[in-house]
Amino acid sequence: MNEQITDQQINSAGHLMIGGCDAVELAHQYGTPLVVYDVQQIRRQIRAFKHVFEENNVEYAVSYASKAFAAIAMYQVVAAEGGHTDVVSGGELYTAIKAGFPMANVSFHGNNKSREELEMAIDHHVGTIMIDNFHEIELLTDVLEERDVKVNVMLRITPGISAHTNKYIQTGQVDSKFGFDLQSGQADEALAKVLANPRMQMKGLHAHIGSQIFELAGFKGVAKKLVEVAAHWQEKFNYQASVINVGGGFGIRYVKDDTPLAPEEFVEAIIKAIKDEINKTNLMMPAIWIEPGRSIAGPAGYNLYTVGSRKAVPGLRPYVTVDGGMGDNIRPALYEAQYETVLASDPRANLVEHVRLAGKYCESGDILSQDQALPATKPGDVLAMLDTGAYGYSMASNYNRNPRPAVVFAEDGKAQVVIKRETYDDLIHLDEPYRQ
Ligand SMILES: Cc1ncc(COP(=O)(O)O)c(C=O)c1O
Repeated sequence: MNEQITDQQINSAGHLMIGGCDAVELAHQYGTPLVVYDVQQIRRQIRAFKHVFEENNVEYAVSYASKAFAAIAMYQVVAAEGGHTDVVSGGELYTAIKAGFPMANVSFHGNNKSREELEMAIDHHVGTIMIDNFHEIELLTDVLEERDVKVNVMLRITPGISAHTNKYIQTGQVDSKFGFDLQSGQADEALAKVLANPRMQMKGLHAHIGSQIFELAGFKGVAKKLVEVAAHWQEKFNYQASVINVGGGFGIRYVKDDTPLAPEEFVEAIIKAIKDEINKTNLMMPAIWIEPGRSIAGPAGYNLYTVGSRKAVPGLRPYVTVDGGMGDNIRPALYEAQYETVLASDPRANLVEHVRLAGKYCESGDILSQDQALPATKPGDVLAMLDTGAYGYSMASNYNRNPRPAVVFAEDGKAQVVIKRETYDDLIHLDEPYRQ
């Protein structure tokens, strides 16, 4: 029996409910593979983060890292909840603009922002540019001069703290491709350049130490490090940071061996660590910004699939194949990420076998789960993979020229398509015949 599914998520027919909607009906109405978000879950998590800051009387921003899932509807929900957002590309920025997201609450990240992307950000009055490297300082200097405008900036530093997490997704090591190194003096050099440029309004400093982090130690460490840097900058440059941004990375539960803290508990610990460190200095308490992506989008998402073929392998776990796979969720193939999957028509059915849940893509590595306990299934059954909301659809591809799934938002028993299913015509709409 799956422990993640609560009684409230099962309706009188015994089916899984998502946002008050019957998952089996959603699959039949909109087709599969289908990505469904429980919108209340998104709202709840943003509110929970905000609540911790408010209880602690700290100025803050909860900046949703939209790389986890970017869509007009998602930006709308985040904006309605008073969240800020991070974008990392012109495409994410464009989507946020089209969603009417308040641009003052957008931060622009990235380790190789193009001149065009920076121009777009400046022309649309993006709130903060998160400067990552010296090349970017030069590009931004040019763009600001050309337009004769100012912009808020923060410096991303590499704090030299590696969080205890999956090695593929760490970004806080000293040799990370992101940000200015502290030890070699790069960060000081960058600050000197920014402070010398009256068009750059230096707001503070940022670090992001990794993703799917379960332990507090890394966050406490980065909080301490950032305050130390802020104190050093005050002493050396007489510059006082008004924002300390500790990034995202709060881990979530995918499978039963995952035992993360509640995301809010990380924030509580970060606030305390920053306050304690600030008290040791003569700095004013800065605003604290966080950038959660996975913890907001992940638990809210479900991928619905229809069971198709089955292959028995003597002595080994059988393959049960669904109508999606690495094109709608590449994380298992890319990171060996694990998920739990239930039968949508009876999420608490007795589990009778362990299977390998295979995708339909022509790639041996296209296995959604190497070991999934399932009840008896037959072709046509709907399976719901849980906690797929982060880095699933946002990394989706058209591999094998499979159309990407539709995305539905479900809330209070109502469902709405927020990204249409791609059609075969969509797949070829950029193709041009070769005139030989
Ligand atoms: C700078 C930055 N902020 C925030 C995030 C979001 O991390 P998560 O989704 O683990 O919360 C990332 C993810 O890679 C990131 O690079």
